[in-house]
Amino acid sequence: MPPVISFHFGLPEAGLLRRLKAVGIKIWGCATTVAEARWLAERGVDAVIAQGAEAGGHRGIFLTDDPVRDASKQIGTLALVPQVADAVGDIPVIAAGGIADGRGVLAALVLGASAVQVGTAFLVTPEAATSAVHRAALKTATDDGTAFTNLLSGRPARGLINRVMAELGPISRDAPAFPTAGAALAPLKAKAEAESRSDFSSVWSGQAASLAVEEPAADVTRRLWAEAEALRQHFL
Ligand SMILES: Cc1cc2nc3c(=O)[nH]c(=O)nc-3n(C[C@H](O)[C@H](O)[C@H](O)COP(=O)(O)O)c2cc1C
Repeated sequence: MPPVISFHFGLPEAGLLRRLKAVGIKIWGCATTVAEARWLAERGVDAVIAQGAEAGGHRGIFLTDDPVRDASKQIGTLALVPQVADAVGDIPVIAAGGIADGRGVLAALVLGASAVQVGTAFLVTPEAATSAVHRAALKTATDDGTAFTNLLSGRPARGLINRVMAELGPISRDAPAFPTAGAALAPLKAKAEAESRSDFSSVWSGQAASLAVEEPAADVTRRLWAEAEALRQHFL
């Protein structure tokens, strides 16, 4: 039995949550705004993940559904974490988005987080199931090389800007609904990937990808904590 189940895009219906809690499973939920964090807190989550706009992969957005209007409103981790921490009281907050070294870890803790969630920095570890084209694209990632797109799945997600995002414009009201949007691109994706191109692939990445180090996942975890601890002793 998993000790924790973490939900993206809101929560399942209350009956299912009650059954999970009854057998001792902790429930985590992802919030991209203070309103979403309050919504999760009201439904009894054990921790709130505050996902800032820097984060790679799908936005956890669930209280609004207009990708065109909402893309430019997404809140950065630095602004989101303390506001979520203030809003949810005693519920632990897990900071996510743009954290890829000890500086980010310590900053998140100072902002009011109890823990951090790291995604992009693990994509280049040997344990990750990251595809060859995705790994190659991450090697040349820059701070301004990502954007939100809903073209690849139907929901907004941050990824490295590739051909389909550049040529169609990364966000479109015409994208098919989640999760079917990728199906239309599948033949193009397969052909491009066979030629080692990520033109039509979901090359998810956060804005701090260039900080990632190719080393085993356990080493990443230990290094991030050691760096944060050294900084804490220096500054606090
Ligand atoms: C390739 C990739 C896949 C992800 N898949 C999920 C997922 O299935 N469920 C989820 O809750 N979050 C998922 N995330 C989001 C992360 O949990 C997290 O919010 C984010 O990676 C943190 O920001 P960072 O990428 O800057 O570290 C994913 C992120 C990436 C990069």
